[in-house]
Amino acid sequence: EKGGYPDFMLKEIHEQPRVVRDTLVGRLSPSGEIDIDELGLSLEELNDVDRVYVIACGTSYHAGLIAKNLIEAWARIPCEVEAASEFRYRDPIITPSTLVVAVSQSGETADTLAAIRDARIKGAKVFGITNVVGSPVARESDGVIYTKANKEIAVASTKSFIGQVVSLTLLAMLLGQVKYRLTTNQVRMLFRELGDTAEQIQHIMDTQGPAVHEAALACKDARSALFVGRGMGAAISCEGALKLKEVSYLHAEAYAAGEMKHGPIALIDQGFPVVAIATKSPTYEKTVSNLKECEARGAVIIAIATEGDEEIGKLADHVIWVPKVRDAFSAITATVPLQLLAREVAVLRGCDVDKPRNLAKSVTVE
Ligand code: M6R
Repeated sequence: EKGGYPDFMLKEIHEQPRVVRDTLVGRLSPSGEIDIDELGLSLEELNDVDRVYVIACGTSYHAGLIAKNLIEAWARIPCEVEAASEFRYRDPIITPSTLVVAVSQSGETADTLAAIRDARIKGAKVFGITNVVGSPVARESDGVIYTKANKEIAVASTKSFIGQVVSLTLLAMLLGQVKYRLTTNQVRMLFRELGDTAEQIQHIMDTQGPAVHEAALACKDARSALFVGRGMGAAISCEGALKLKEVSYLHAEAYAAGEMKHGPIALIDQGFPVVAIATKSPTYEKTVSNLKECEARGAVIIAIATEGDEEIGKLADHVIWVPKVRDAFSAITATVPLQLLAREVAVLRGCDVDKPRNLAKSVTVE
């Protein structure tokens, strides 16, 4: 059942190249348009959208953080990401031009469902992204994309996250296209590069096992770890920290790297693990300078870095390499080593990786 893997989490991490491929099947029309006809919205209605809220919980919320960067960059409309448990109890600004995107692997998270109902009553169009066919999120939204993760058994979400990020990336491309911000040629190029991430994920899994193991040994006996990055890297850090917390019970916190000196750097002393998303991006140099500050205070730096980057090789104690991708797709590749790291730390600490204590796969109570 586990296909030869020791646990479902590892099996599901290894399914991610397939998830990327399956999610993209049929999504680019021969004339170069992104095709999401299950959206339930006409192109005119989509063109009218002037604000997007992504509402979700946990890992699905982190997929929303990635999407915000892409929607704002490509469609130039404001996008807010909100925990469903907050959204439903506030009075968010909703008009008929508001698109609410509800993201839920299980499709039955109580807070996400309540937020969908509330948003529809207030007049928003609601689009669901879920992994479970016919789930309440699918039934109660105006339109739905099914992520092609297939059943996810490990409580910690991995392949579903990748399915969500790829689906949200398609949605961001579609919005960019209907808003005339992305040309057909740009969309074709982005689509091709998005597809390439399947092989890039495979490459990471094939080559980085020993590096992940070394990094995990450095975290195993720590009391706490910080995950840092900027831009996309800040969003990726949130998912890395959550994964580590849930499966290894090691306290972890994500921080935008530029915020370190406003407080969290006080935590750093000899041997404190800092996991950095330090891939080549527009803010790479800034992240490196934050890491130097951590290093000077004795931190053990574990960097997720772009292959061929010699500078980071000198600075970090451990490097897990990922192939070069455009910043927009960095979440897809850089999250994979963080999933592997969390699992490896959990195994070293003797935790039940598939069934962490106190957690349930579906959170159907508030
Ligand atoms: O089924 P959902 O995507 O709505 O679930 C949301 C969260 O409960 C879920 O992502 C949770 O954080 C996972 N344990 C993450 O690994």
